[in-house]
Amino acid sequence: MANTSFLPLKKPIQGELNIPGDKSISHRAIMLGSLAKGKTVIKNFLDGEDCLHTIDIFRKMGVSIEQSGTDVLITSKGAHSLQEPTVPLYFGNSGTTARLMLGILSALPFYSVIYGDPFLTIRPMNRVVNPLREMGAKIDGRENGEYLPLSIRGTSLKGIRYELPVKSAQVKSAILLAGIFTDGETTIIEKAKTRDHTENMLRAFGADISIEGLTVKVTNKNELSPVNITVPGDISSAAFFLVAGAIVPNSRLTLKNVGLNKTRSGIIDVLESMGANIAISNKKEIGGELLGDITITYNQLNGTIIEKNLIPRLIDEIPVIALLATQAEGTTIIKDAEELRVKETDRIKAVMDVLRTLGANIEEKPDGLIIHGKTPLKGGKIKSYSDHRIAMMGVIASLISENNVILDETASIGISYPNFFQDLNRIKREKK
Ligand code: S3P
Repeated sequence: MANTSFLPLKKPIQGELNIPGDKSISHRAIMLGSLAKGKTVIKNFLDGEDCLHTIDIFRKMGVSIEQSGTDVLITSKGAHSLQEPTVPLYFGNSGTTARLMLGILSALPFYSVIYGDPFLTIRPMNRVVNPLREMGAKIDGRENGEYLPLSIRGTSLKGIRYELPVKSAQVKSAILLAGIFTDGETTIIEKAKTRDHTENMLRAFGADISIEGLTVKVTNKNELSPVNITVPGDISSAAFFLVAGAIVPNSRLTLKNVGLNKTRSGIIDVLESMGANIAISNKKEIGGELLGDITITYNQLNGTIIEKNLIPRLIDEIPVIALLATQAEGTTIIKDAEELRVKETDRIKAVMDVLRTLGANIEEKPDGLIIHGKTPLKGGKIKSYSDHRIAMMGVIASLISENNVILDETASIGISYPNFFQDLNRIKREKK
């Protein structure tokens, strides 16, 4: 892996960016578009590596998917026409593909083998495998199905009532996707509301789904019918530039068409509670998802507490929020976030290591981090842990560092934000 050195910026960032499509929604659009009979058109699809794996595996099951940049056309004869893949299905780094596809593949009448890269291979799958087995799924693999590679013998499933032990949209979605093929009703009860894109999209595709508070129900009553989807900008990608605008003195940035779904917008609540100057305009709803433009203007920030039900609403943004906290006066406490330990890498450990190396005053806790600000970052040599969000956090940190930040790799950024450096360079160059 090649080291890359990032110079401190020492001037404000300015301008407007169109944020690339939401990763979670892009995956789901490919999945539901492939299961629905007819043509599904997707606009502003995220052409990052994770979502390209999702396209590739449906092609391997016989679905016609034409992709040209962020435009996708899916032509499918419906779920029942999907063919047994003759090769193992490769998911790369994508936990969302792995978990959601387990739900779908368990219900389709054929045999499949799934595997991923070394990072995905050590992530827990039993959180999905256990409820699917309760539905009748036949899944096997190392340590009784805990880790990829897994093999799935698709079969007919029965509905269940399942109280989610983890706050995970991937687990909820796997069960819902299995549920649309299942005899009887499937009921899921969440502990806290997690991202609801699967529910929104299932409803848009005509599935029989109902939601009441923390309870979601689906049946196989309705066939899915295609709809056109415009994917909102990914707030998890916007987060890097929101934080850049908030910590680089005298900056002002507008991020356009960003998804503002309540189950994802926790970072906006955090910025507001820290005293950031943030404004939202041009709000609209497309396909059951809220979006709008976010403008952030630099000003002084204070520490805050991030805990409980706020955590699922910003889980992927915590690395960059930790960076933000290093530039706020006082203490920021992040707790109830033990799920970070089983992400693309152990993100509590990775954030702690990176920010401490750069000069932050940060403590690691079993379920989170405590950050004492405001501390100047001095720069230094850091590891991304091959995690896209840690790498992007490191690059954003370089903007305010006294000396260069040297990263061991940046290729992982292509997983979720292929145009990250073009966008960054644009706002660095923009004049007042
Ligand atoms: C995702 C859910 C979250 C999130 C991940 C994407 C999804 O994972 O961290 O990046 O698309 O459903 P968990 O379900 O494990 O919390």
